[in-house]
Amino acid sequence: MAYLEIKNLHKHFVKTAGGLLSSTHETVKAVNGVSLDIQKGEILGLVGESGCGKSTLSRTLMQLLPPTSGSIILNGENLSELSTSEVRKRRLDFQMVFQDPYASLNPRMTVFSTIAEAVRQRHPKMKGAELEEKVIELMSTVGLEASQMKRYPHEFSGGQRQRIAIARALAPEPKLIIADEPVSALDVSIQSQILNLLKDLQRDLGLTLVFISHDLGVVHFIHQKTITPSACSPRSRSCKARDPQYHRGPKTENTAPAF
Ligand SMILES: Nc1ncnc2c1ncn2[C@@H]1O[C@H](COP(=O)(O)OP(=O)(O)O)[C@@H](O)[C@H]1O
Ligand SMILES: [Mg+2]
Repeated sequence: MAYLEIKNLHKHFVKTAGGLLSSTHETVKAVNGVSLDIQKGEILGLVGESGCGKSTLSRTLMQLLPPTSGSIILNGENLSELSTSEVRKRRLDFQMVFQDPYASLNPRMTVFSTIAEAVRQRHPKMKGAELEEKVIELMSTVGLEASQMKRYPHEFSGGQRQRIAIARALAPEPKLIIADEPVSALDVSIQSQILNLLKDLQRDLGLTLVFISHDLGVVHFIHQKTITPSACSPRSRSCKARDPQYHRGPKTENTAPAF
C-alpha cells in the first residue's frame, strides 16, 4: 500500500475582477487532476516551471488548503473523511521546508524557542533539560552548534537559516517532509550543502521526501522518481489538464518536463 495516495486532485481558485454590476470570475486551475502514489521512504521529485501549481499541490497535501475535489489517502485513510482533530494529529507526520528561510522563521524567536516549540507539538509536556537536550540533538543533526541556540535568525546566513528551518521540520518527528524549492533562495555555492543534508536525512531517518523545484538539475541531484504536475503554457502561464508524467529509475533525457 502506498504511504500517500493522491487521486484526481484538483485545486481551483476563483478570482473576481470588476465592480458590483459587471464583475467577472476567472477560475485558475492551479492543480488539475493530479494522481500519484508515494511509497514510504522514497524521494519524489516534483518539477515544473514557475506558476504551474507546485506550491498549491504541496499546500493542499499539507491540508493548508482544502482541495476543490479529489482525495488524499494517507496510510489507507482518506483525510477528507476524518474529523478536524484527527487531521490535526495526522498533520504532525507531515512537515514543510519553505523556499525562503528569511520569511519562514520568526525573527523574534531564538533558535532554541523555534525548535523547542516544534518539539512540543509532538511532546507537549517536554521541558527543562530534556527539551534542551532534544533541541541540541536536532541542531547537531542539521550541522548547527549548541552554542548558537540563543541566537536570532538575523544572526545567521541563508544556508544556516535553512538548516534551522530543517531542524524545525524534523522536531515533530515527521514521516514525510515536503521541501518546496528549499534551495532556490540560496547562493549557488551553498545549495549543494543543503541538498546533501536533505538527502542524508532522508536516508538516515527513513523519511519520505517530496522535493519540489523549478530546476530540473536540482531535482536530478536528489531524485529517485520525478513527475511534472501539469503542463504549463509559458506564454499564458495557464495550466491545462494533463496526466502527470511518471519517470522511474535512472534519469534520462526523457525526464525533462514537456511544456
Ligand atoms: N491563493 C491564490 N489565489 C488565487 N490564485 C492563486 C493562489 N495561489 C496560487 N494561485 C495561482 O495558481 C497558480 C499556481 O501557483 P503556484 O502553486 O504558486 O505555482 P508554483 O509553485 O508552481 O510556482 C498561479 O497561476 C497562481 O497565480
Ligand atoms: Mg512555488
